[in-house]
Amino acid sequence: MSVFAWSPALSVGNREIDQQHQELIKRINHLPSIDAPEFHDLIEHLLEYCFAHFEAEEHWMRTLGYPDYREHLSRHTQLGERFHDFFRDYVDGRVDYAGFRQFLFGWIKHHILEEDMKIAEFARNG
Ligand SMILES: [Fe+2]
Repeated sequence: MSVFAWSPALSVGNREIDQQHQELIKRINHLPSIDAPEFHDLIEHLLEYCFAHFEAEEHWMRTLGYPDYREHLSRHTQLGERFHDFFRDYVDGRVDYAGFRQFLFGWIKHHILEEDMKIAEFARNG
């Protein structure tokens, strides 16, 4: 089971957002990669936390007057749609647990390094 860890290289220079990214990574690490009784609660809490984090990040972008706000928002919406698809598969009993967990790791890593870093850059240099 692979573990993905937060490192200072993932810092966006905003303490609240960094702490939330660390918590998200921790929660994804705790997701079982097999069908397990605790999976439902863990994924539900992860989802709630994720959307609260998106709200905080969107607030940060608005405060900064970030020019690519709409585009970034659509990335968050796309993940929400992916969660929706996942829950449909979950209800249908055809979930690839390990695959979904890997997808989340890939998503958050790419999202922080590629998308959130653009906000960080704008916050630093305008
Ligand atoms: Fe984001």
